[in-house]
Amino acid sequence: MKIAILPGDGIGTEIVAEAVRVLQVLDLRFEMEEAKVGGAAYEAHGHPLPDATLKLAQAADAVLFGAVGDWKYDTLERSLRPEQAILGLRKHLGLFANFRPAICYEQLTHASSLKPELVAGLDILIIRELTGDIYFGQPRGRRTAVDGHFPGALEAFDTMRYSKPEIERIAHVAFQAARKRNKRVTSVDKANVLETFQLWKDVVTEVSAQYPDVALDHMYVDNAAMQLVKAPKKFDVVVTGNMFGDILSDEAAMLTGSIGMLPSASLNANNQGLYEPSHGSAPDIAGKGVANPLATILSAAMMLRFSLQQPEAADRIESAVRAVLASGYRTPDIWSEGTQKVGTREMGDAVVAAITGKTITK
Ligand code: IPM
Ligand code: MN
Repeated sequence: MKIAILPGDGIGTEIVAEAVRVLQVLDLRFEMEEAKVGGAAYEAHGHPLPDATLKLAQAADAVLFGAVGDWKYDTLERSLRPEQAILGLRKHLGLFANFRPAICYEQLTHASSLKPELVAGLDILIIRELTGDIYFGQPRGRRTAVDGHFPGALEAFDTMRYSKPEIERIAHVAFQAARKRNKRVTSVDKANVLETFQLWKDVVTEVSAQYPDVALDHMYVDNAAMQLVKAPKKFDVVVTGNMFGDILSDEAAMLTGSIGMLPSASLNANNQGLYEPSHGSAPDIAGKGVANPLATILSAAMMLRFSLQQPEAADRIESAVRAVLASGYRTPDIWSEGTQKVGTREMGDAVVAAITGKTITK
């Protein structure tokens, strides 16, 4: 088994280093190989997703990804910006199914911006379609408007589109995931306005006939955004398109106290996967040793479970994270009165200690 390690930019290098240490102490038989991606790759090789990096990712059983991006690249032409690395990996590896669990750990109930009773015990799963929608639809670009409110003016346009098979396959992923959970799927759309999402709704409804044991409901995305902060625990599995999923998963992440806690998995049809924290490269805190590595460490656990068939090792990581939280360790993003503030490295040390069975001393 081979894992491609792509730390990327900003806090990516710091948090991936901790996840790699955690993987190493598990003493499993796999090979890890590192490559540059994002802004770091642009600096070194002139492209955010160099051929060698893409080939390494394609040949690997799984990819552990940190984060990409920095404000200093905002003025580069789009094809050279760091974000193109992750979009390119999703596209070239066909990673259409993005799992973003939002779990509120008992010890962090008070770190949420919502009232504790609204989030205590929260465990929802957002499944975001990741290779279609307005993110990848063609044509896109700029042109002179020939109609609309300002004919003759400069305009920009993107194309929102989904094909029936694209919707079918993500719907199957959602219903199958729900079967292993509370057997409820909420499909989020904007069918009241958009043709793309009328098809989405129709196809998800059609697929649901094959899953009579799973309850399906439909929700418009604006209402879903509201319900997520009003009564988040009413959701089980949420399935939606690429752009709505991008937005709702950030919202759901915050319910759990910190986006620094949330892992994600992006899978293709062969269960090859890319695993990354749900958060970004956080250039404002990069290099300071304060970033929370737990989302990346938990992403490594998802990788062991989904792509590397090592569920026991995944369990060991997840219990270690719970133990570390229970013993009061907190990076600044999840710190509260009465807990101990630690940095990235110390948090990694604590998880390693919990796995190897050494006692953690505060
Ligand atoms: C995410 C990110 C990406 C996205 C960016 C970096 C392209 O926000 O993974 O959610 O929009 O998908
Ligand atoms: Mn996002």
